[in-house]
Amino acid sequence: MSVIGVLTAGGDCPGLNAVIRGVTARAVERGDSEVVGILNGWEGLMEGRTRPLDRDAVRGILGRGGTILGTSRKDPIVHGDGYESVRRTLEANDIDVVVVIGGDGTLRTALRLAEDGFPVVGVPKTIDNDIAATDFTFGFDTAVQIVTDAIDRLVTTAEAHNRVILVEVMGRTKGWIATHAGLAGGADAILIPEYPVPLEEVATVLRRRHRRGHDYSIVVVAEGVEPPAKVEHAKDIFGFERLGGVAYQIAPVIERLTGFETRVTVLGHLQRGGTPTAFDRVLATRLGTAAADLAADGKRGVMVALRGARIVDVPLAEACVEPRGVDPELFAVARTFFG
Ligand code: F6P
Repeated sequence: MSVIGVLTAGGDCPGLNAVIRGVTARAVERGDSEVVGILNGWEGLMEGRTRPLDRDAVRGILGRGGTILGTSRKDPIVHGDGYESVRRTLEANDIDVVVVIGGDGTLRTALRLAEDGFPVVGVPKTIDNDIAATDFTFGFDTAVQIVTDAIDRLVTTAEAHNRVILVEVMGRTKGWIATHAGLAGGADAILIPEYPVPLEEVATVLRRRHRRGHDYSIVVVAEGVEPPAKVEHAKDIFGFERLGGVAYQIAPVIERLTGFETRVTVLGHLQRGGTPTAFDRVLATRLGTAAADLAADGKRGVMVALRGARIVDVPLAEACVEPRGVDPELFAVARTFFG
């Protein structure tokens, strides 16, 4: 019997529980592996906090947001004696391999551990959809749906008041959520880090639209766009800036350039909360079951990924490069509808 440890680290994301359930159910079905849940991400691995997972332990969690294992932003490389405590927990629980479910920072840590001989299998996770080596990450579809619903609501109030509304969405370095939700919600302009546009140009687009008789506009802003004036952000332990609020800087500029009343809605963590969409449940389940197979079959230092319609495994190193940006062709489609 091999023992598979599973942990969720970094920011949460709808679908984490579906992955945990997938790993556990597949291990139970195979009959050659047991599963141990590691609590609160790397922190639990360092501090030896675990709980056994069997089929009953993961019933009823498929559609639940968050993570039954908890998560944290503690990291074994940044914090203290990392490796030694990790080794201790693995030995104490007879863990043969750890399935690490995480975003770019977590996967980079998993890669470092793998390079130092620790047995890991990665599962990519982020609502931002920007991890290299996979076509989609679970959680993204849910976030896009939440933002689209918000835009649908904001349109009617913007229209009633003849306002411009800036909807700020997550997307630290890449504008996937902004582009997809902007397309789905019929945004009049979308600002993303990959394709910076001077605010004068945005104002021209909005003025043209209003001249044509549409006296309200929705502009989707990815949180990671360059602010009009430099801002110092606090950083998390992976060195990532804690973003949020750039739309409040952009709004007065748009208002001054257009003369239109401009308001802001920052959707923030709403985008990560609640129940995953059917698409994310299925994707997360497939990634979880595939990760259990890789782990039980003795594969190490790899990550499960979606390529086209298939789940494949790729070297972890392939995921730990520059984040994947929005395809220019896709953004060109969105741009067709600006103004
Ligand atoms: O990477 C996912 C993400 O949701 C980003 O879009 C966002 O900038 C960040 O996490 C927020 O992290 P936290 O919840 O730690 O503030």
